[in-house]
Amino acid sequence: MKNSENSRRSFIKKGALTIAGVGLFNQIDMKAYAGNDEVIVPETFPADGAFSLPALDYDYAALEPYIDTMTMQIHYSKHHQTYVTKLNEAIEKTPELQGKSLKDLIMNINAAPESVRTAIRNHGGGHYNHSMFWKMMNPKAADSITSDDLRKALMAKWNDMETFKSEFNKSATGLFGSGWTWLIKDTAGALSIVNTANQDNPLMDISSQKGKPILGIDVWEHAYYLKHQNKRADYLAAIWNVIDWNQVSKWYSEM
Ligand SMILES: [Fe+2]
Repeated sequence: MKNSENSRRSFIKKGALTIAGVGLFNQIDMKAYAGNDEVIVPETFPADGAFSLPALDYDYAALEPYIDTMTMQIHYSKHHQTYVTKLNEAIEKTPELQGKSLKDLIMNINAAPESVRTAIRNHGGGHYNHSMFWKMMNPKAADSITSDDLRKALMAKWNDMETFKSEFNKSATGLFGSGWTWLIKDTAGALSIVNTANQDNPLMDISSQKGKPILGIDVWEHAYYLKHQNKRADYLAAIWNVIDWNQVSKWYSEM
């Protein structure tokens, strides 16, 4: 085995063991979003080597009573870790994909060798989506939109926050099976609510809904079943209490 391979295998092994700290849109020029890796999930873009879990900025219990401790623990340390581990396994056996950023990988699913394309889509998407999800929540969160531009864009589309949340929840409850509901921004700054199945993301080249995601809610059952069982609407009603609008504002502005 070459030294570089040895090094890479060692790095991957280390990464796999790491559990840190605890419509219009189809015509968007997606290149406009390239180069913003550090804005979304800075911990997940190694220059070389394996991907790893990003550190949580809060304890598992910090989002109680809206998101329960056990769900946070299992969701982060088991579900997200599995996406990371399986993504690394796919990359390890695909030399042409090594060294690419996570964002580069998920924006170019069709360019991935067929043998790992589904793995990159599912596990790369899972890693990206969850990395964003943890950042988007905050125990001190409140309805404080710090970006005037974001507030204007929201009001222009939905008139008030209650209408926006109601439309978002309607879209999320209507999503059949597992997936994500997103608030996305187009290159003109306009907003839209879209659903994607499984671990797809609006940044993906294969996504039917394209745009820059600035807020995304995980509606897989693993995100809420322990506390709310089959009542997805109850989970959606609760999660707005911990959405970090400061972070959403930042993502909206930094494009
Ligand atoms: Fe999840």
